[in-house]
Amino acid sequence: MARPDRTAREKGLRPATTLVHGGILRSQFGENAEAIYLTQGFVYDSAEAAAARFKGEEPGFIYSRFSNPTVTMFEERMRLLEGAGAARATASGMAAVTATFLCHLKAGDHVVSAKALFGSCRYVVEELLPKYGIATTLVDGTDLDQWQRAVTPKTRALFLESPTNPTLEVIDIAAVAGIARKAKARLIVDNVFATPLLQKPLELGADIVVYSATKHIDGQGRCLGGVILADEQFVADHLHTFLRQTGPSLSPFNAWVLLKGLETLHLRVERQTASAGVLADRIAKHPRVTRLLYCGRPDHPQADIIRKQMSGGSNLISFEVKGGQKGAFRVANALKVIRISNNLGDAKSLVTHPSTTTHQRLSEEARLEQGITQGLLRLSVGLEDVEDLWDDLEQALDRTR
Ligand SMILES: Cc1ncc(COP(=O)(O)O)c(C=O)c1O
Repeated sequence: MARPDRTAREKGLRPATTLVHGGILRSQFGENAEAIYLTQGFVYDSAEAAAARFKGEEPGFIYSRFSNPTVTMFEERMRLLEGAGAARATASGMAAVTATFLCHLKAGDHVVSAKALFGSCRYVVEELLPKYGIATTLVDGTDLDQWQRAVTPKTRALFLESPTNPTLEVIDIAAVAGIARKAKARLIVDNVFATPLLQKPLELGADIVVYSATKHIDGQGRCLGGVILADEQFVADHLHTFLRQTGPSLSPFNAWVLLKGLETLHLRVERQTASAGVLADRIAKHPRVTRLLYCGRPDHPQADIIRKQMSGGSNLISFEVKGGQKGAFRVANALKVIRISNNLGDAKSLVTHPSTTTHQRLSEEARLEQGITQGLLRLSVGLEDVEDLWDDLEQALDRTR
């Protein structure tokens, strides 16, 4: 079996085609669907061949902690989609985020990060990295002066999530990439909310993109996964050895599920985004709603940046209802089609109360600083009929009058 051809015919194909064909490695049986290679290791024709493979003198697979054909297919499809030099998969989105930092930073280095982050990412930046002597400074990601002022000669990485979870704040990626470049630091972007289809951080000047593949990439609520996309040099110099030796590897079975998820990603994101646009406009007009944030609406606080860097509003809507936590719980509990869950990007529409779930670790002060009020709900719009979703939301909102 050959390793994927870097100049494969997928090159230059449009995303919908890459999502179906990209990165396929066919065995001698010529299977149509991607094969699942559920094997921990690989055998060699001779002791000499084993030695050559370990030395890197001969291409081929060694051990599934290092690489595996099904995982390689997933990485290659993601690489082609993102237009990156290299891609490496991990067991979860958090494994991707943590590995990206730890593989290239050392004690004495400094990281600047936007403070509006998914709760676990904030833990990594604020608590984990400082434990190992890596200082961090949190800034308001929308304020470019704060990024600029926070950078020091020791800054090696800048980190942001855009749109942010759950307040859908949008950060000017090209502008922050400019600050990173001048500081000779790498910009790492968590692109989960935008998906690889609606925002291309590498084209905007970012150095590294990370995903929780658990979200839209699987898109059907089945398994965890993560992926890191960067240039070949970063992967060769830092990431490859770190992943190989520390082992946050993606299971081949999960890689196969994610490959199948990728095949329908464009259809799902397109449909979910269209439905989210309809729902956002209707929710915004409801008398029980005091604030609505949606990246596809002209009243979004960073609508000008969204026009520059996103090609769609995404499937995520956040809105605040009257009555604080009690009001938000009442709405969530009254929903019948939309289920309460902290996941997102799923075929099923899901609602989350961030301040008591995904962001419960933060102090109330830190939450309010990010705009995460007690009345805020985050809605991930799924693939159901949009009218059924609206009927469900309307009856739940009406009931709380
Ligand atoms: C923006 C963002 N980044 C990272 C993660 C972590 O991903 P995972 O749950 O796959 O570890 C999440 C998960 O909710 C997320 O929303």
